[in-house]
Amino acid sequence: MELLKGNKTPERLVVEPAESGLRGTVTIPGDKSISHRAVMLGAIAEGVTEVTNFLPGEDNLSTIAAFRSMGIDIELDGTDIKVHGKGLRGLREPDSVIDAGNSGTTARLLLGLLSAQDFFSVITGDSSLRSRPMGRVVEPLRLMGARIQGRQETNLLPLAIVGKDVQLEGRFYPTPVPSAQLKSAILLAGLYADGETSVKEVAKSRDHTERMLSLFGADISFDKAGTTVTLKKVSRLNPCSVSIPGDPSSAAFFMVAGSIVPDSELVLPNVGTNPTRAGIFNILAKMGANRIEVNSLEENRSSEPVAEVTVRSSSLNATEINATELLPAIDEFPVLCVAAAFANGSTKIMGAGELRVKESDRIAIMAESLTAVGVKCEEEDEGIIVHGTGGRRVRGGSIESHGDHRIAMAMAVAGLMSEEGIVINGADAVDVSCPGFFELLEKIRK
Ligand code: S3P
Repeated sequence: MELLKGNKTPERLVVEPAESGLRGTVTIPGDKSISHRAVMLGAIAEGVTEVTNFLPGEDNLSTIAAFRSMGIDIELDGTDIKVHGKGLRGLREPDSVIDAGNSGTTARLLLGLLSAQDFFSVITGDSSLRSRPMGRVVEPLRLMGARIQGRQETNLLPLAIVGKDVQLEGRFYPTPVPSAQLKSAILLAGLYADGETSVKEVAKSRDHTERMLSLFGADISFDKAGTTVTLKKVSRLNPCSVSIPGDPSSAAFFMVAGSIVPDSELVLPNVGTNPTRAGIFNILAKMGANRIEVNSLEENRSSEPVAEVTVRSSSLNATEINATELLPAIDEFPVLCVAAAFANGSTKIMGAGELRVKESDRIAIMAESLTAVGVKCEEEDEGIIVHGTGGRRVRGGSIESHGDHRIAMAMAVAGLMSEEGIVINGADAVDVSCPGFFELLEKIRK
């Protein structure tokens, strides 16, 4: 694998087979979801929010650029940032279109926040994001009084938000799908809406927005089941110190790599273990990866649980994964398919319909990629069946990431357990969420 240190990831990379076990310590970059939220809440708090272990991935840089274009001064020094918040009414009208790039979180959360601003704005994104559904976010915002217009009955970016003279009203909204982006958009609008705003989910999606809103001083509460969150209009948010844990969704690639490559031992010192994100731990345990140790550390300054994770190779068994188990591992679908490819027997992942509207159609692209490297699998409407090799290497070959960072990383992990290596076309997509991914992978090979 040829890498130019410190530069952007090349467009095409070959992941050679691992000759021996993977060994060493991997410092997992900061959590992408939490990094977005730290910038957003920092920008509308009154004063300076200091953030450590921020993820300077392309998605998060899109969020920074959006807030800079609305007059917020953000200092970026490696993985430390300082956001000079100007208060709830301190954003100014951007003089151009806001480009969210590949980032669904930027676009959807901003839709909520911008609906409540007293100015006009337009959000767009790259070709992948322009094809992803936005209607699910627009609908509840409109019910709150937001004025939003756009393509295909306001389902697709670019979307224009006419905020002038709009006063939002709080609502109770049961969401049609458990989605943290949808829930967070409503809550961000709810900060400005008269009365109370409640969001009810059938199952609890990741709760980073709720945790961070409470840290910044918002009045937020939950029902007994924890699936309905209620927020009252606020008069101000207080700036905070935020330390961001390593992203469990990036850690997942190393957890699977350490599990499937024989004679491996990897230590991941600082991984977020928020229960709404920790599905990967439970699913791998269910597959028999019983040599993963999770040593909880003290909850960090962002009210997010963290742990040191040690992974040693184990032989994996096939399993069935349903929608409830998948929700806290929603972004891990591609790498779970790879774990399944090396398990004993056939793994069925169901209830995964949402995966068709992620950065790519992840069900179709994983089926295509696994087939291309010699894994037998069947694509289903709402999932996939992967026939595992029982720990034997797969042939290898060449895949296309389709610009999807998690496809590129998942198939790179598969490359370690191939006979001929795997060519990753579109390897540079990893910069979206895990810049330096291939260097981290290189470091743990002998
Ligand atoms: C995210 C929520 C999830 C996840 C995405 C990040 C977030 O999307 O897949 O990568 O930061 O809120 P959905 O809300 O669409 O499930």
